[in-house]
Amino acid sequence: MTSKNEVKLAYWLAAVFLVVGVLSYTAFSAKPPEEPVRMVLTASTGKVVFDHSNHTYGYGLDCSTCHHHPMDADEIISCGACHDLPEDGNAPQACLDCHDPEDFDLEMVPKRADAFHYQCAGCHEQNGAGPMTNDCSLCHIN
Ligand code: HEC
Ligand code: HEC
Ligand code: HEC
Ligand code: HEC
Ligand code: HEC
Repeated sequence: MTSKNEVKLAYWLAAVFLVVGVLSYTAFSAKPPEEPVRMVLTASTGKVVFDHSNHTYGYGLDCSTCHHHPMDADEIISCGACHDLPEDGNAPQACLDCHDPEDFDLEMVPKRADAFHYQCAGCHEQNGAGPMTNDCSLCHIN
């Protein structure tokens, strides 16, 4: 006959094994980030829905059209890693992971929101397709 305590112990052990399982799974699966499908980018004005899968496979765009630096990156990192420019005028850490500070002029690097606006709306304007610069509400949903 099982006592209440034995049942509790069984639940407790099951929970411990679950946690250990999840931890080992995450610890040993240090893969690069998965290719997103549909993503929500968060701006101070609200949210922007970006269909990553449509853009990549539907519109036949190469990864490096958008993930542009460096051209032959083995691992894709977020736009913000390079375009969130620190307030103090220093280079983002990401640049220094690959370059010496004297290799570049930070003036060339647009700030986060500009980087997105230029790349997203810039391509739409070039192709005459997709939301244009002034179609704010086609990208920004509130
Ligand atoms: C039309 C532009 C565009 C194309 C084409 C594109 N991506 Fe992206 N991708 C983005 C944007 C924008 C993000 C969001 C980045 C952010 O949040 O800073 C992103 C995010 C990612 C991320 C998550 C990065 C992270 O950790 O934040 C991965 C991985 C990724 N893309 C892989 C790919 C691969 C692989 C391809 C080609 C098969 C591809 N992308 C094609 C624009 C694009
Ligand atoms: C590893 C660093 C890095 C990442 C990640 C990165 N950029 Fe850039 N980006 C740069 C650098 C450096 C420049 C300036 C030199 C140049 O144009 O290559 C730049 C310039 C730009 C420019 C202006 C010049 C141009 O090409 O039109 C835009 C727009 C831009 N980035 C958008 C983005 C977007 C959007 C993403 C994410 C999909 C992104 N960048 C990811 C480093 C990065
Ligand atoms: C993952 C490594 C990596 C990161 C992170 C990175 N770069 Fe680069 N960068 C490269 C490589 C590799 C090249 C050689 C040309 C190429 O493949 O685009 C390059 C080229 C350059 C060049 C000369 C060619 C050009 O595109 O004008 C400049 C300037 C530059 N990087 C600046 C930056 C700045 C500024 C940052 C941060 C915002 C940055 N890089 C982040 C790897 C990196
Ligand atoms: C290199 C080119 C390119 C870039 C960069 C790009 N787009 Fe697009 N986008 C397109 C094309 C092509 C279409 C298709 C329009 C059509 O067929 O009507 C489109 C359509 C869209 C649409 C409407 C249909 C859909 O798939 O959702 C939205 C919204 C959109 N883009 C948002 C964005 C955002 C946000 C970004 C930046 C994070 C971005 N795009 C970057 C080329 C681009
Ligand atoms: C093609 C899509 C697109 C269009 C059109 C667009 N935006 Fe954006 N906007 C974005 C994306 C993507 C971001 C960056 C989200 C992030 O930071 O992750 C952004 C960011 C912003 C931000 C945030 C600035 C910050 O520092 O947080 C403001 C403000 C903004 N947009 C205003 C506008 C206004 C006003 C218009 C119309 C004149 C407009 N946007 C048109 C896609 C768009």
